[in-house]
Amino acid sequence: MLAAFATAAGGPRPLDNLTVGAREVPTPSRGEVRLRTRAASLNRHDLWTLAGVGTPASFPWTLGCDVAGTVDAYGPETPERLPLGSSVVAHSVITCGVCAACLGPDETSCRKFAMLSEGSWEGTFAEYCVVPAINLFALPADLSFEDAACLPTSFLTAYRMLFSKAQLRPGDTVLIQGASGGLATAAEALALAGGMRVIVTSRDPAKLAAALERGVHHAVGAGKEAVGEVMTLTAGTGVDAVIESVGEATWATSLRVLRRGGTVVVAGATAGADPPADLRRVFWRQLRVIGSTMGTWDEFAGLLNTVRATGLRPLIEQTYQLADARAAFERLESGQVTGKLVLISG
Ligand SMILES: NC(=O)c1ccc[n+]([C@@H]2O[C@H](COP(=O)([O-])OP(=O)(O)OC[C@H]3O[C@@H](n4cnc5c(N)ncnc54)[C@H](OP(=O)(O)O)[C@@H]3O)[C@@H](O)[C@H]2O)c1
Ligand SMILES: [Zn+2]
Repeated sequence: MLAAFATAAGGPRPLDNLTVGAREVPTPSRGEVRLRTRAASLNRHDLWTLAGVGTPASFPWTLGCDVAGTVDAYGPETPERLPLGSSVVAHSVITCGVCAACLGPDETSCRKFAMLSEGSWEGTFAEYCVVPAINLFALPADLSFEDAACLPTSFLTAYRMLFSKAQLRPGDTVLIQGASGGLATAAEALALAGGMRVIVTSRDPAKLAAALERGVHHAVGAGKEAVGEVMTLTAGTGVDAVIESVGEATWATSLRVLRRGGTVVVAGATAGADPPADLRRVFWRQLRVIGSTMGTWDEFAGLLNTVRATGLRPLIEQTYQLADARAAFERLESGQVTGKLVLISG
């Protein structure tokens, strides 16, 4: 079968580690299901893997965290959760299922937490992929494979950040750092669907204009002037929460635009992971700094219900044939993408 996989990790040019070529069709074991992949979206995570962050156990190693497709075959003694041929989207989080965290309300704290393409699980950029059978969800009616393939990482992460971690309500004001990335545009779509007042930042005036056309309430430049602009927009109060995934380049702003008692939820550090902590501001203004990663099975179900109820759809910049995966990776690495990139096959 055709697949996009890593043959090594690290080095000065991570994309040199990417190969698009033939792999064996995987065989599902007990508790697993093989999918015929129809669409799989790219995430920065795939570039991190090529760069040597979270190096795979072995090579070659198929990349990709997100998949939508059809049920092809169950492993031995595996109950058929959905009939063969069903259209499905896979929850990307894999946990042990038996530890205290897994049996409690938040299995993402499982010490064996992994995403598809991590640990012992190869990824989804292939004509066929294997996932745990319990991770299958029926595709919501009217949702395309391409749209569904954007949900498991970017949208699930944004859903948990907004609704579970920051506990935002309709009418609250949220600032999202970045106006173009997969996670940032997912947060934007979900926050608008959730009735929030949405402010985005970007380094690029064209991206700010595009965000306003998509319906965000305010879009401000990501530079030093951002703090003053946001305080003016909020009548000097600040925002209820910041959705942060950029890191060093935006962290100081994130702390300074929060209202007293406000919450910054952080899920990434693209621009660096070690900004000044500004502890005086944190305690004096009683800020909440909360980390977040992916989401639970229950939150993924809630996300799919939100998609069904609101009709929201991911912003997809472009789809590529799986055979053209290299072009998609190059585009993601350019940093110019607005929304998601999706690989299609079959
Ligand atoms: N913890 C989790 O579960 C989880 C899940 C998903 C993603 N993430 C992390 O979140 C981050 C974003 O992921 P993604 O897939 O959305 O990646 P992406 O598509 O590459 O995100 C690019 C975004 O980052 C902003 N950005 C990048 N560098 C910047 C800089 N120096 N200054 C200001 N803004 C900058 C861009 O904003 P503008 O171009 O508009 O300025 C754009 O919105 C990554 O670090 C990823 O690993 C974590
Ligand atoms: Zn566990």
